[in-house]
Amino acid sequence: MASETTAARNPADRAWPLWLAGEPAPAASGRTFAVHNPATGQPLAQVAEADAADVDAAAQRARDALDSGTWAKLSARDRGRLLRRLAELIERHADELAELETRNNGKPIFESRQIDLPMTAAVFDYYAGWADKIEGAVLPVSGPFHAYTQREPVGVVAAITPWNFPLLLASWKLAPALACGCVVLHKPAEQTPLTALRLGELAAEAGFPPGVWSVLPGYGPTAGAALATHPLVDKIAFTGSTAVGHEVMRLAASSNKRVSLELGGKSPNIVFPDADLDAAARGAYNAIFYGKGEVCAAGSRLLVDRRIHDVFLAKLLDRARRLAPGDPMHPKTKLGPLVSQEQLDRVLGYIATGRREGAQLAIGGERASVPGHERGYFLSPTIFDQAQPDMAIVREEIFGPVLATMDFSDFDDAIARANATSYGLAAGVWTRDLALAHRAARALKAGTVWINTYNQYDPAAPFGGFRQSGFGRELGRPALDLYTETKTVWVNLEN
Ligand code: NAI
Ligand code: MG
Repeated sequence: MASETTAARNPADRAWPLWLAGEPAPAASGRTFAVHNPATGQPLAQVAEADAADVDAAAQRARDALDSGTWAKLSARDRGRLLRRLAELIERHADELAELETRNNGKPIFESRQIDLPMTAAVFDYYAGWADKIEGAVLPVSGPFHAYTQREPVGVVAAITPWNFPLLLASWKLAPALACGCVVLHKPAEQTPLTALRLGELAAEAGFPPGVWSVLPGYGPTAGAALATHPLVDKIAFTGSTAVGHEVMRLAASSNKRVSLELGGKSPNIVFPDADLDAAARGAYNAIFYGKGEVCAAGSRLLVDRRIHDVFLAKLLDRARRLAPGDPMHPKTKLGPLVSQEQLDRVLGYIATGRREGAQLAIGGERASVPGHERGYFLSPTIFDQAQPDMAIVREEIFGPVLATMDFSDFDDAIARANATSYGLAAGVWTRDLALAHRAARALKAGTVWINTYNQYDPAAPFGGFRQSGFGRELGRPALDLYTETKTVWVNLEN
């Protein structure tokens, strides 16, 4: 087998089998599928394609590990040790994983190196600490009873993850699930399965016992749907589109699986007139262009007080003008290609709709050409001005570097416009007025509110959506609720 570094440079040099219950295995069907490098449009690797038969095999092994195997007998502290060892292995392999992530997803290498990889390791490290601190309580019930609760693993967890943060969003699910004593079946997105497969290998190296961790790359309607309906799967943790989130819930309903969903967003970023406008412009820029805008919490609706609109937009455009899409492997590149031709087409479609509906294109709006990467899926950073509440570019998630700008007249107008969405994942507020900031935070319907900052994440800070953005909270202590059942035990003390 090629060395790890070589394999990250050229993933085609190695085979990418399923990671089945802790071991490499071909798909039962023998099928494979191609994944692409979005910077070149060229095939990157050939990956084993899991379907219902592989899901069934992995689920059986997972259930065995949970019910009778070494996993069930492992102490909570030892589970924590395994998670910590995995965090260390991720750190040790950070360069290789970052390169692989960038080659498969197209995100700039500086993001993979400085954000995705450190945070993925931090998430495993954080939940390593939780493993032996998941406690029940003694309950103050009436009568001659001793009553207490204990927290038990919910069981076999299927994590279905998207392509925008392949490793990081997997860690948000896998780390707390394992800390709680669950076993995991991970189906990465069909566009970006490579780092997930490497993570499975590293988990085995860290010492996770057989059966506990499977990685099943494949397509949604086959592998994904098989997980959502399999009788041995207890819980689905899903991140992706709202439509598929609804479908997963429907599929999971007949076997009463626990479901948590982290879906899309159309997050507002509100600039009040007293804000530090330079900081706010930098913030608005990062809010939409970080991660190519393929970020569930992207600040895709910019709301600017009418009185500062012109001066603010000039500052923002000045920054956007200097943002050139480029080779994501170059350390200075700040905007990589979109993940796929399909995503590029979808985003270009929204741009065409925005123009047709009468929004004013202030910058960008076109496929960008990057020398040496003519077939890459690059888009120039795009900002619409004079967007209106009923336009598709204001209502629907675009999931690309496309910003819709609107004016507001006062605080109430700003909040009303911000909340005029079916989503509720995140919101940003820019002001120097402390009371105003907190009033806005209270009034905004969103799972996260950022004040004078944007796109801040930490393993300790819960994240998730209101309304159509999903339910359940990942990260922090609340994620433990997603992966445990509470059992109440009553003891008759007079018996
Ligand atoms: P998607 O929702 O189809 O994919 C997410 C995951 O769900 C993938 O692993 C996929 O294989 C799986 N999946 C698809 N159909 C399934 C099914 N029937 N049963 C079980 N699993 C299934 O997302 P897609 O099509 O790649 O992107 C479309 C849009 O979704 C994007 O433009 C964006 O608006 C949104 N999206 C939001 C994300 C977020 O972070 N909240 C992440 C990815 C996409
Ligand atoms: Mg889809």
